[in-house]
Amino acid sequence: MADGRGRYIMLVSVHGRVRGSEMELGADPDTGGQITYVVELARALIEDPEIDRVDLVTRRLIDSKVDSSYAEPVEELAPGVNIVRIECGPKRYLAKESLWPHLDSFTDNLLRYLRDQGRVPDLIHGHYADAGYVAGRMSSLLGIPMAFTGHSLGRVKRQRLLDQGMAEEAIEKRYRITRRIDAEEYALDNASFVVTSTNQEVEEQYALYDNYQPKRMTVIPPAVDLSRFTPPPRSWRNLPKIHKAITPFLEDWARPMILAVSRPDPRKNITALVKAYAKNEELRDIANLVIVAGNRTDINQLDRSAREVINEIIYNVDLYNLYGQVAYPKDHESSDVPHLYQLAAKTKGVFVNPALTEPFGLTLLEAAASGLPIVATSDGGPRDIVAYCKNGVLIDPLDTKAMGVALLDAVSNQGQWKKWSRSGLRGAHRHYSWSAHVKNYVKKVNTAIRSADRKRRPLRSSARLVTANRIVVCDIDNTLIGDKSGLRELIRRLKDVGSKVAFGIATGRSLDLTLSVLKEWKIPTPQLLITSVGSAIHYGAPLIEDRGFEQHIRYRWRPDRIREAMSELPGLKPQGSEGQTEYKISFNLIKEKAPTAAEVTRHLRRNRLQANVIASHGAYLDILPIRASKGMALRYFAMNWGVEPDRCLVAGDSGNDEEMLTGNTLGVVVGNHDPELEKLRGEPHIYFAEQNYAWGIIEGIEHYDFFGKIRLHEPEFVNAESDKPEPVNSA
Ligand code: GLC
Ligand code: MG
Repeated sequence: MADGRGRYIMLVSVHGRVRGSEMELGADPDTGGQITYVVELARALIEDPEIDRVDLVTRRLIDSKVDSSYAEPVEELAPGVNIVRIECGPKRYLAKESLWPHLDSFTDNLLRYLRDQGRVPDLIHGHYADAGYVAGRMSSLLGIPMAFTGHSLGRVKRQRLLDQGMAEEAIEKRYRITRRIDAEEYALDNASFVVTSTNQEVEEQYALYDNYQPKRMTVIPPAVDLSRFTPPPRSWRNLPKIHKAITPFLEDWARPMILAVSRPDPRKNITALVKAYAKNEELRDIANLVIVAGNRTDINQLDRSAREVINEIIYNVDLYNLYGQVAYPKDHESSDVPHLYQLAAKTKGVFVNPALTEPFGLTLLEAAASGLPIVATSDGGPRDIVAYCKNGVLIDPLDTKAMGVALLDAVSNQGQWKKWSRSGLRGAHRHYSWSAHVKNYVKKVNTAIRSADRKRRPLRSSARLVTANRIVVCDIDNTLIGDKSGLRELIRRLKDVGSKVAFGIATGRSLDLTLSVLKEWKIPTPQLLITSVGSAIHYGAPLIEDRGFEQHIRYRWRPDRIREAMSELPGLKPQGSEGQTEYKISFNLIKEKAPTAAEVTRHLRRNRLQANVIASHGAYLDILPIRASKGMALRYFAMNWGVEPDRCLVAGDSGNDEEMLTGNTLGVVVGNHDPELEKLRGEPHIYFAEQNYAWGIIEGIEHYDFFGKIRLHEPEFVNAESDKPEPVNSA
């Protein structure tokens, strides 16, 4: 609470149709549960007395095919809570798979929004891979803590699709799964904490990630609306109407009721439950079994799997002579469900979920909120529920004998029943309500904010780089230098245009090597010097170092451990001392033997190390702090000096220039560029010059009319390859 105000939380959820009312859930695969969740979370957060402002940031849609409400830049959800819509890429609606090339621009536009309103969030929270990427960038640029919720994960999805027999290439083309997984890994690089729904999600899903660090993960169970579920009243004036649907099956309905409620799906394992009951004489003597498995008019009209489930119930009832003991009502309405739990609780029965797998288990919570103890399959959701609520036992869904024993114990031990009933009721509300969710969440937020660097930099929009309102930033080797006449012409033009245009360089060289090459080529000292691949910033002729930036990039930087981990890899020869600084570890690559940058990143992550690994010219490999790169340093500068990224013309030729070329900056790739930059061709705001070296920069300046009105040639970026909305299943 730096300024005596409350906390300001920013939630980011980029894709889908996000609005506060009449949510169009299911309108397309990207508008689903996540949207409801983030909107409700935003609303719930403001209830916390420490939080005075919440922004839910999403993409602005200007498209006649979707409602005009999605074009509103700001929508108030409640006092202090707003949906903020940020433009990126084309105006029209895009499927989430097509958003990747536009996320850097989303980030730049979001920074502009912050600058305009002059307040920086205390924490930024990205939801899903796309927003995780944006939040990671924002966190890196602003030095604020970040949270991440995956919602669903790319590696899990890829595995599932492969298991289903889909080809690697098809998965890639349809879902851009590599981009997604990279974004998730990047989010994990930066996140102070990761929110998951269950422990199993941590152990089985996040464990697939290179960046698996369970300590940073926190299980905050999702909130469920339990307001419809309460324990039964002392007595009913009239028994609830669902009672009538059950009693015809039963000899004595008042015996403890073993209740199962699920879809008629073989994975719900109902047959095993019937057998468990049938084979336990004692259980049959004292308890009834009630199975509510969907609705039916004519069994023969059900789809095959549902038909099989129902037929098996009937078959087993007959086989084991369970008449008078097992009910399987034909119809029920959703409003009957709360009464089912109440009836079961009234008879001192138990709720059972014998499913083969259960990632969450909503019905178990509904039962708990009705004061009904549970017997549930030992899987992700139920494990957490039983641990939090202490309201029952877990069973192996394949062991019918043990299932029978557990059920018998649950309905025959009165003292235990009361304890389970009471603690389930308390636990469900305590752990699974919105207020509980928010309480746990805010606790994490506060810890993250406290442990984050307290010395946050205010946005000094007043401290402009004196008179300039735009800047040309050039890489040195093979961009600025290489052609003497082009360089002389460029220097002359920069001099002529006067003080409204500043000049900067961004280079892989150390400051010393930079100064000597500037001298050698008779280049006047630039106003901005970004050196060592964006791990140091200096200003002007007195070479004032930006200490704030140094502070900023220290985050998660562990050079000794990185050097150690790197020594395990083949094909890398450490550069001499001129290539090494406190924040840059550099190697020369031995062709054929060296790993790729992606492989190195992976290796580091698996050693619990986060770094930005950048390869250039297929010959160099630089390892930098995650908050350092030419692009990051440039944006740090731009933000502090109040220069918009789209007032920065950047020129480069090789891999370490990539991050400053993407996004809203006006990129120029010189004609003599390394093939590794070819992949940027067609990306927004990246101009590929015909001419080489400084002549290419001049060509780029003219292309954008950068010294004049500034002209963008592709306001509506269309990249035929990546921009095609494709019909896809949801996450
Ligand atoms: C410059 C630096 C070197 C770095 C390379 C690529 O040549 O001197 O250390 O590896 O740029 O960024
Ligand atoms: Mg270069």
